[in-house]
Amino acid sequence: MTVTWEVKDMSSEISDEKAVLEVQDLRVYYATPLGDVRAVDGINFQVRHKEILGLVGESGCGKTTAAMAILRLVQPPGRIVGGQVLLDGIEMTSLNERQLRRIRWRKLALIPQGAMNSLNPVMKIKDQIADAIETHEGKQPRSVLRERILNLLSVVGLPSRVYDLYPHELSGGMKQRVCIAMAIALNPPLIIADEPTSALDVVVQRVVGQTLLDVKERFGLSMILIGHDMGLQAQLVDRIAVMYAGHIVEVAPVDTIFERPLHPYTQLLIEAIPSIKERKPLKLTEGLTHDLRNPPPGCIFQLRCPHVMDICREERPKLLELESRHEVACYLYEE
Ligand SMILES: Nc1ncnc2c1ncn2[C@@H]1O[C@H](COP(=O)(O)OP(=O)(O)OP(=O)(O)O)[C@@H](O)[C@H]1O
Ligand SMILES: [Mg+2]
Repeated sequence: MTVTWEVKDMSSEISDEKAVLEVQDLRVYYATPLGDVRAVDGINFQVRHKEILGLVGESGCGKTTAAMAILRLVQPPGRIVGGQVLLDGIEMTSLNERQLRRIRWRKLALIPQGAMNSLNPVMKIKDQIADAIETHEGKQPRSVLRERILNLLSVVGLPSRVYDLYPHELSGGMKQRVCIAMAIALNPPLIIADEPTSALDVVVQRVVGQTLLDVKERFGLSMILIGHDMGLQAQLVDRIAVMYAGHIVEVAPVDTIFERPLHPYTQLLIEAIPSIKERKPLKLTEGLTHDLRNPPPGCIFQLRCPHVMDICREERPKLLELESRHEVACYLYEE
């Protein structure tokens, strides 16, 4: 089977409306006997009304940690060291646990990494979704709850018989769609989906991706879609934020990222996408990522960058807006 990815044309689609989420200088470290692992080390980005922001980067660059920090769900030995998370104007970092519980699911829902494998194996789908609703909204009349759950299943494209099934009776793609149904159960304006399509085959990835697009359109919500499959991101997201070793190195509309990637790391990520049209040798990135406990002074990509200059070893480049809506942190573009 051949699959070709087309990059979304964003020219007329990006809204300038105010941000649903604003993350400012967020830092999350994990304490280890050999020092703090700087998993997220000062990231800044916004998610606008009705947009899907893709958060991409290789394994271990801090995507899940950033998501957990936004929800204030970082567990020890991790801790939020600094920064602000403004959700619809509410400063998340200053809320207490009771206030946070009111906001999670209602204002911001998470589809965690590996969510489909953490469905409770001994509970029917109807009971798991009912649980999610009743935990946040209190007891509901059975008939109302049943109607609501059946409606949610239909919104994510699942047949009504799923209502009475156990997780093991569903395929991976169906389980993932149950997780999407749970995430939208309380109508949150923002969803964070952490690698919702990994571990699924290509066809099912598309189905789950389309389900995410459908619910986004239907409810007019915003999303952060975490992933490392650039091909899938190209199809689904409006803007992309590229993360490397705890930092965001480039942010731009998805078509710009694919047509004019500026950061050398983004360029390598895009060159690494296999093409069925032309066979090209696999380009390997030289060098290793630095130890996150001991980042070098200067640019965090310097050890692997093919264009490294003296200044890159001295001072960290700032994420600057070079063109409208295109931000990059790289000295190649600084005056
Ligand atoms: N409990 C922990 N203790 C120490 N270091 C941790 C802990 N959890 C995560 N890390 C480190 O933090 C960094 C970021 O991890 P994170 O899981 O956020 O990455 P990710 O981008 O989501 O990766 P993946 O694509 O594999 O899901 C990694 O280097 C990881 O080793
Ligand atoms: Mg992760």
